[in-house]
Amino acid sequence: MSSPAHLRPRYHFTAADTWMNDPNGLVYAEGVYHLFYQNNPWGSDWGNLSWGHATSRDLTNWEPLPVAIECDEQEWIFSGSVVHDVRNSSGLAPAGRSPLVAVFTSCLIDPDPARARQRQSLAFSVDEGVTWVKYAGNPVLDAGLDHFRDPKVFWFGGDDGHWVMVVVEAEACTVAVYASDDLIAWTLQSRFGPANSAQGAWECPDLFPLTVVGSGEQKWVLVVSVYPGGIAAGSGVQYFVGDFDGARFTPDRLSASEDSTSFDWVDYGRDFYAPATFADAPDERRIMMGWANNWDYARDSPLRPWRSAMTLPRELSLVADEEGLVTLRSAPVVTGGESFDTDVTVSLPVSASRASVLIVSAEPGGAGDRLEVVVDGAGRTVSVDRSHSGDTSCYVDFGAPAWAPLPPGEVCDIRVIIDGCVAEIFVAGGRVTFTMQVFPQAPLRFVATAL
Ligand code: FRU
Repeated sequence: MSSPAHLRPRYHFTAADTWMNDPNGLVYAEGVYHLFYQNNPWGSDWGNLSWGHATSRDLTNWEPLPVAIECDEQEWIFSGSVVHDVRNSSGLAPAGRSPLVAVFTSCLIDPDPARARQRQSLAFSVDEGVTWVKYAGNPVLDAGLDHFRDPKVFWFGGDDGHWVMVVVEAEACTVAVYASDDLIAWTLQSRFGPANSAQGAWECPDLFPLTVVGSGEQKWVLVVSVYPGGIAAGSGVQYFVGDFDGARFTPDRLSASEDSTSFDWVDYGRDFYAPATFADAPDERRIMMGWANNWDYARDSPLRPWRSAMTLPRELSLVADEEGLVTLRSAPVVTGGESFDTDVTVSLPVSASRASVLIVSAEPGGAGDRLEVVVDGAGRTVSVDRSHSGDTSCYVDFGAPAWAPLPPGEVCDIRVIIDGCVAEIFVAGGRVTFTMQVFPQAPLRFVATAL
């Protein structure tokens, strides 16, 4: 049976009628944003992992395309990245042309004790991403590990620079850094981790430079997905701010405490995982997209035949606070022409005597389903409660609130965007964000406050 039509978002990307998880290969080339994604081309459950494909010119309207890289009897195509090899350093395009090169994890379907289960491989396209050919010399990187995946590749430096790959040794909770001149021969440079949240597996690393707003200083941001061990239980995404010299990442700070609220989190909601940023976005914009889901219950969500959504693209910035602490901010990339179920910004008073609450409830017929954002000035927290948001049966703790430390200030600005089954909440100019799935009986559209 299909899930109700109102649960399918209009602007958050979904696959037409199949399973989807991580965004892969986010790249801007020749005026087009490419979104590849973990996809089961033949079903609504995780399996047969292949790369689905869609493109957009405005990051808002997405055009579905045929499956880009398909699994075969030997291997599933796990997560990875795409680079535009403008110098044709790989030699994979005919002379004078420049290929798009996908670097992905080959995951052997049947574990073979004689072979490492996960290795890094290439595929390339010379028709702007429509058709892909696997490189005949795959794999290009085999470290003899079973849990070695999710390569993110980028060019470091100018004309005499080199390719860098960050890739996780998932069970060890380390990010390995490799370098290459041609995307084919890779040499290990360094390792980072374990650090901060390191109880679960590390997955889907990303590493990119950003200029600190105001100071002009350039820092590097290392993003690491963790499962389990996220701030809101299950899947979560931490980040580290530091420096990168082309071979080694050095964080500015690590938490001295085991308390996960002292770590840096990209999002504090239950449903934000495996994000990646677009390579080569114009004007040096750093635009991130994540999978709006959590491995605690992704396989059990009440969505069919399409299974789960991406987040909106988010533009990232780095901002220094009064003490000089540099942290990430995110802002949704929206054109303004979207008709979301809800897009509202409200300033809630921060009061030490009672909580302020923003409530978004369902249309009549929606059985009182609602989502609440609670600003607790006494406890100095901001939290999101979806315990009465509709169908919560997919997971025993689905209704548990997500919360974050409340940013400083006498008032707290909150923007809530709800689009079908995805709610994205941006607090205090995107200092704190929450991504939460909801499965209401009617769209969540009516906004009220209780002060
Ligand atoms: C993260 C992840 C990746 C892996 C992919 C498989 O959600 O587990 O580590 O490559 O999903 O679908």
